[in-house]
Amino acid sequence: MNKKINAAVFPVAGLGSRFLPATKATPKEMLPIVDKPLIQYAVEEAVEAGIKKMIFVTGRNKRAIEDHFDSAYELEAELALKEKHDLLAIAHSVAPKGVDFVYVRQSTALGLGHAILCAKPALSDEPFAVLLVDDLIKSSKGAVQQLIMATDGSDRPIIGLEKIQPYQTRAYGVISIRESMGQYVIASDLVEKPKAEDAPSNLGVVGRYILPYEIFDVIEQLPSGSGGEIQLTDALAVLARRDGVIGVLLEGRRFDCGSKLGFAQANIEYGLEHPEIGENLKSYLKKLIV
Ligand code: UTP
Repeated sequence: MNKKINAAVFPVAGLGSRFLPATKATPKEMLPIVDKPLIQYAVEEAVEAGIKKMIFVTGRNKRAIEDHFDSAYELEAELALKEKHDLLAIAHSVAPKGVDFVYVRQSTALGLGHAILCAKPALSDEPFAVLLVDDLIKSSKGAVQQLIMATDGSDRPIIGLEKIQPYQTRAYGVISIRESMGQYVIASDLVEKPKAEDAPSNLGVVGRYILPYEIFDVIEQLPSGSGGEIQLTDALAVLARRDGVIGVLLEGRRFDCGSKLGFAQANIEYGLEHPEIGENLKSYLKKLIV
């Protein structure tokens, strides 16, 4: 039976420097893919997986995220007055009923491992999901749901994986494979951003995880890793070397929306499927290419 996961952590305190100047005053997570901010895609994925508690690890300049999941009294009153019921329903659907939103701060961006540690006071002693919002995964089955389906009796971490090319290893955590069964693997180690010739496999870690509460003990004992930051990969490596980490080769297509190219590609692909603009965008692109 799949384990029930009750809470998801969204580390959104990073600086988003690859996306300047857009991210100078606006959170990267609020950049829209067509008409929906990236953060909302991630929250919807967690809700679809049955998760009811969303914990955001925020930092300076991130207030727009809190406002997005709050009610917008003036806007809603105005839409109701003008009887724009469709738009009102869209505004209401952003924060689904029965879902709690919790905010904790990471005052200095000391790395992903440290950001997750900041969420500890908001969690109880059970496994939780982590979603990196700039990894947008387009799939008929949500990525977090795919990880939940891989839960077994153990408390081993579960991580999302994708096949990568040698030129991409410097941008990924890469696993060592102990066992492999179809789309599932057991990782015996992880290294952060290796050179192509040092990469132990062609499987890179993507931004979806189910972590045991025990990860906090491991993170707390870690020395600073690459770039002086506290890296989640280093904590996962400790658990991988001890008991193994479960990896799931995710179905679907991932867009790295923290990069300009990935962001533009996602806007095109989601735009082509959008009921309002899809057809027009398709004919526009056809003309552009001719
Ligand atoms: P990234 O390094 O991809 O994001 O971290 P970034 O720092 O925002 O972007 P660049 O590299 O400067 O362009 C992966 C995820 O971890 C979060 C980020 O918000 C992002 O979702 N993160 C990273 C934190 O919350 N805190 C940190 O200290 C570091």
